[in-house]
Amino acid sequence: MKIYLAENRGFCYGVKRAIDLAVHAADTNCPVYTLGPIIHNPQMVDQLQEMGIGVAARLEDIATGKVIIRSHGVGPEIYCQAEAKQLTVVDATCPHVKKAQQAAQALLKAGCRVVIVGERHHPEVQSILGWANNEADVVETPLEAQALPYHSRLGVVAQTTFAAAEFDAIVAILQGKCDECKVERTICTATDLRQQAAVNLARNVDSMIIVGGRSSANTARLASVCRTAGTPAYHIESASELKAEWFAGLQTVGITAGASTPDWVIEEVYKKMEAMNMTDVVKLETGTIVTG
Ligand code: F3S
Repeated sequence: MKIYLAENRGFCYGVKRAIDLAVHAADTNCPVYTLGPIIHNPQMVDQLQEMGIGVAARLEDIATGKVIIRSHGVGPEIYCQAEAKQLTVVDATCPHVKKAQQAAQALLKAGCRVVIVGERHHPEVQSILGWANNEADVVETPLEAQALPYHSRLGVVAQTTFAAAEFDAIVAILQGKCDECKVERTICTATDLRQQAAVNLARNVDSMIIVGGRSSANTARLASVCRTAGTPAYHIESASELKAEWFAGLQTVGITAGASTPDWVIEEVYKKMEAMNMTDVVKLETGTIVTG
């Protein structure tokens, strides 16, 4: 069996940066917490915990020390509350998310009704909503966009990880719901690149293994685009979930991973796969095109 790694996989720039900032903030002299798990990856969260970086669900749970804002960002009220509590803020908001927050704030100031295209309950969307004074509409589907009332001026921003084609379809509907529609296409290319690489690989292998946290939306999406490409895909969180019967009779298997999956978790997966198929295992270079 041959194992192939997707060309774009695993940690994106924003997640890498957030973890670097967190590790740098670890301090033996004062408590350090991330506000919510830093990424949707339990193994990484455990590793940070071993370095003394705890997870606080709410700011109220932190009495003193440092609070790390994760890559999803938070609304302005959290910065005010942290300041009032004299906490040191380590801002690991991804610069792409910051851009979406600033775009929402600017559109609101410019007199637009802000529309955030994204998943309503996603922490990033909640953070963008905060910067739009909690006055924006959130739409996730073309149907929801259809249901919005008419406004003379709309200002549209995207959740950074939203699918580009779906965003464009929703924008087309919104343009028919107003006189003027300002669009800030705040989609991050990391997600698209991972999805494209996953589909390219899926089309050329017998089966796909998708590695990433169970609650990571972008990892689940990778599995779904592979299945749409017609290839069976297994979403696992760690190597321990691999089953030998998945690979029986297969010639080729591809591996990809969500933007919050550390390299060492991916490595454990292909090492275990190699161990399961003791004969005829070839791990080709990253991004190698399968020729048959
Ligand atoms: Fe940032 Fe894009 Fe990653 S928005 S956190 S670089 S997926």
